[in-house]
Amino acid sequence: MSVKSICCIGAGYVGGPTCSVIAYKCPDIKVTVVDLSKERISQWNSDVLPIFEPGLDDIVKSVRNKNLFFSTDINPAINDADLIFICVNTPTKSYGLGKGRAADLKYIESAARMIANVSAQSKIVVEKSTVPVKAAESISNILRANQKPGVKYQVLSNPEFLAEGTAVKDLLNPDRVLIGGEQNQEGQQAIAALASVYMHWVPKDNVITMNTWSSELSKLAANAFLAQRISSINAMSAVCEYTGADVSEVAHAVGMDSRIGNKFLKASVGFGGSCFQKDVLNLVYLCECLNLPEVAVYWQQVININEYQRRRFANRIIECLFNTVTNKKIAIFGFAFKKDTGDTRESAAIYVVKYLLEEGAQIRIYDPKVETDQVFRELTHPSISDNPEKVRDLVTVCDDPYKAAEDTYAVVICTEWDEFIRYDYKRLYDNMLKPAYVFDGRLILDHQSLMDIGFHVETIGKRLTRTNVHRPFVASN
Ligand code: UDX
Ligand code: ADP
Repeated sequence: MSVKSICCIGAGYVGGPTCSVIAYKCPDIKVTVVDLSKERISQWNSDVLPIFEPGLDDIVKSVRNKNLFFSTDINPAINDADLIFICVNTPTKSYGLGKGRAADLKYIESAARMIANVSAQSKIVVEKSTVPVKAAESISNILRANQKPGVKYQVLSNPEFLAEGTAVKDLLNPDRVLIGGEQNQEGQQAIAALASVYMHWVPKDNVITMNTWSSELSKLAANAFLAQRISSINAMSAVCEYTGADVSEVAHAVGMDSRIGNKFLKASVGFGGSCFQKDVLNLVYLCECLNLPEVAVYWQQVININEYQRRRFANRIIECLFNTVTNKKIAIFGFAFKKDTGDTRESAAIYVVKYLLEEGAQIRIYDPKVETDQVFRELTHPSISDNPEKVRDLVTVCDDPYKAAEDTYAVVICTEWDEFIRYDYKRLYDNMLKPAYVFDGRLILDHQSLMDIGFHVETIGKRLTRTNVHRPFVASN
């Protein structure tokens, strides 16, 4: 079977870029991305796309309205498609059974029901959203219980490994494409059909196939392993701060071991993003449900260390500012969960700001990509603050970093945006209150030159001794 028409349900961070690249690489396939949100779809059809990803604008513009369409007309798009990607959101449940840990599958279920209600011909249904193990089975059950006569479904798992900020690069050159399906003839045919879409541009050897459950679990495992590396180096950063070791040097030495590798060993104020926390919690919940408490506790610790790191960083700011930040102005540089994205989901900055607000600090936030509304949406979320008025009183979002830092006691780097490295720190220093502090939560700045300017500098995983800076050389006799 060859795929001629694809429908993607969900025009978010996963569905939008993935399907844009598929359309770009497969001119013979019609790709329609649908969403319930009229606003999202109109943004995809406009000059300003709803998400910022380097390289995405050019790809979308080159194929939009040729073989790539964005629409809210969901039913015909489903019915016309041979293959349907489910790319809806699967947030952590905020209520009921599994609250705070299990993935909320209500959007997946509603997408599956829509497909069953509308489809007049057989379809391949592909779960791309990250889901708990066995979600494909639930989707199959819903589809089969509601299928029209003569209509058959094959459900595949095809998790997406793209990272934000490098989505286009990751999609164009994936380390691997993973497809899981049923181990029978129909399942294998469906796998081959989806593989043929990717093989328009991905080498055959990089498309790996396996049973559905392995595929679903591999996605959770990959994210858990990545998050675990960050928590491991962050745990080491605490040890470094008390021993005189430097976490960057430790990471370098450890990463030179080819068995360990040097990626994802950058100590930071903590990982964020829509995936790591959600997927690790999901894994923890799965282990608990499988009555594997020891395994659950093991993975939960990855999350605990992340929370500890964010809290530790905020406490360090408070301690350095003479144990009180009440009414003190503090500038936060960076609100996105990492550079080159406007996404703020689970960003460490949210938690650092939350802790400082709880102490009554006045916060000035500058981020080159995050919109003001988005900052307030995050900070006034009930899980972050029970007093939205206070948040609005104490937080100002600035569109200029130099304005943001004016009359503040400290600049706090929460995101590793490249532009932060290039700022004129002398100019920032001159307009700040003294003693002026920089807290580098991303280890991106040249600490020595900041100290030479006069800043007190605090960073992750290293104790900087300012007293050494201007100390004249005294020869020992
Ligand atoms: C992640 C996975 O990388 C991707 O494969 C999966 O599909 C989705 O989840 P993403 O969340 O977009 O992607 O970003 P990633 O680059 O993995 O970074 C996640 C967080 O970890 C960011 O907050 C980042 O700043 C932080 N990080 C990353 C570190 O603190 N140190 C590191 O060494 C690497
Ligand atoms: P992700 O990061 O997983 O892509 P997003 O929240 O960015 O998640 O995007 C998911 C999209 O799925 C949202 O735009 C949401 O409106 C859309 N969506 C959720 N349920 C449905 C549905 N039943 N039909 C169409 N779109 C849906």
